[in-house]
Amino acid sequence: MHNLVMIGPQGSGKGTQSELLSLKLNIPQVTLGTLFRAEIGRKSDLGLEAQGYMDRGELVPGEVGSKIMLERLSKPDAMNGAILDGFPRTLDQADSLENISKTLSRPLTDVIYLRVSDDEAIRRLSGRRVCTNTGCEQNYHLQYNPPHKSPDHCDKCGSPIAQRTDDTPDAITKRLAIYHQETVPLIELYRGQGLLREVDGEKPIGEVQTQILTAMGV
Ligand code: AP5
Repeated sequence: MHNLVMIGPQGSGKGTQSELLSLKLNIPQVTLGTLFRAEIGRKSDLGLEAQGYMDRGELVPGEVGSKIMLERLSKPDAMNGAILDGFPRTLDQADSLENISKTLSRPLTDVIYLRVSDDEAIRRLSGRRVCTNTGCEQNYHLQYNPPHKSPDHCDKCGSPIAQRTDDTPDAITKRLAIYHQETVPLIELYRGQGLLREVDGEKPIGEVQTQILTAMGV
């Protein structure tokens, strides 16, 4: 069974690689940011509260993320493993995940660390475009990974693609600063537990995927 966590700065390719791993391993990709965006789309109380934090590039505070993750990981399709993309991002969330893993009797098997410089992350986020259909959210890059059928529509579902509201220069700077302060300590935590699989995230998408599978021994 594979219970994976993806760690890396915003723009390192966590979403891109999680999607490929999900297809390869036949386990779901669970992206907390996507779950929050679905709440925003539904205009739920949680979504309305989360939106301000997300647009400013801040983490959504409190226990809400952990509760959403427990609920999501309890669904039948996650019984044989899952790829956690964007959770945990703080030491407190790592504690919560440990509790969730115990509750569900599903220990973590690998933590994939995508090593990417801030300069490369900024280049990628500035050129990123995402499908505006919240049920799809396929991501593209104007230069590295453009849609093939039409320059401004999603290959998968045909909806328009657009820049994410948190891919502005101010929000990108804030997100990267929070990553260095809050998330980087997790790298040493998981290295100490023997779970860290470090890969060079600056290589092309296919090469990064090969490195991940090799590091996992798949
Ligand atoms: P989330 O949606 O998870 O966004 P993020 O963490 O900012 O991560 P990104 O999606 O920006 O980057 P990525 O690493 O997935 O890169 P991608 O594959 O898209 O979270 C959004 C917000 O939700 C947070 O800011 C926060 O407010 C809230 N949130 C989420 N989790 C939370 C938590 N745990 N606690 C509290 N709040 C939370 O790739 C980027 C671009 O690069 C794409 O255009 C892609 O095509 C391109 N690309 C990818 N790989 C390569 C490559 N190898 N070569 C060239 N281009 C590449």
